Amino acid sequence: MARPIIIDADPGQDDAVAILLALASPELDVLGITTVAGNVPQPLVTTNALKLCELAGRTDVPVFVGAHQPLKRELFTAEYVHGPTGIDGTDLPDPVTAARSKEAVDFIIDSCLAAGTEGITLCPVGPLTNIASAIAGEPMIVPKIREIAMMGGGFFEGGNTTPVAEFNIYVDPDAAALVFNSGAPITMFPLDVTHKALMLPEDLDRVRAIDTPVGDAVAGMLDYYERHDIEKYGFTGAPLHDPCVIAYLIDPELFSGKACRVDVETESELTVGQTVVDWWGVTGVEANAMVMSDVDRQGFIDLVVDRIARL
Ligand code: RIB
Ligand code: CA
Repeated sequence: MARPIIIDADPGQDDAVAILLALASPELDVLGITTVAGNVPQPLVTTNALKLCELAGRTDVPVFVGAHQPLKRELFTAEYVHGPTGIDGTDLPDPVTAARSKEAVDFIIDSCLAAGTEGITLCPVGPLTNIASAIAGEPMIVPKIREIAMMGGGFFEGGNTTPVAEFNIYVDPDAAALVFNSGAPITMFPLDVTHKALMLPEDLDRVRAIDTPVGDAVAGMLDYYERHDIEKYGFTGAPLHDPCVIAYLIDPELFSGKACRVDVETESELTVGQTVVDWWGVTGVEANAMVMSDVDRQGFIDLVVDRIARL
């Protein structure tokens, strides 16, 4: 039976690949996509999610509008990485479908409370504002959350937005701190693993060779998106941050890491948004997350390319 998941995203080219990968994979039952302001503001992230579902021929998957800004801080966006539309590199038509009227947080709460014994897997790949609001709004959902598989944070790799803070956590550190202290089972994909999940030029050639509307859109988006990180880090390809979360749910063997205590800095202006990962267990504090550190890059890329080709 397909695993029920909710994807919480701020599309974003890498969010787009994560969403398309999930929609192409029969192992997963995407109950809905909730949007959160992050890479670009609302309503753009919602428009982008609708465009992607239409591109994939999956308008059966409902989209719900979520947070317009973080819990406490001013919204910080990343057009410098993703472009003004958030999914620059492709020119998808304006959506003909609309988001549902139900609020994203209410959808998350209602879905979790209605879940059977197997529970719901939440897949936040943007700032954690919606997830934190759902848990704060209805703490009784925590026992119904099978797993929170999230992209965010960094430890030995540092940050990509400040020297120590990764974007998703930096945008809403208060939400992240609440989620990491919620008691929900968390599997974390920090920059330490996502910076190894690179789509190299030869991989992108395979995507171009798919020669379908979805393949062309993915190739165009990644062509645009990779330039920032190649220039900044000297990578030879784009890090597919968000697709790591979905690939893990499809094939967990692709990833490895260990259980660690993770805390989030919310006060210091110097280090706000830092995920303090006790990788060596020096605090003796019980672990609250499975922190991923390594990926079988080729296996991950093969999965992404194979599934994108199915749409
Ligand atoms: O730091 C990478 C994360 O920030 C990814 O989720 C990307 O989409 C942006 O949201
Ligand atoms: Ca994202």
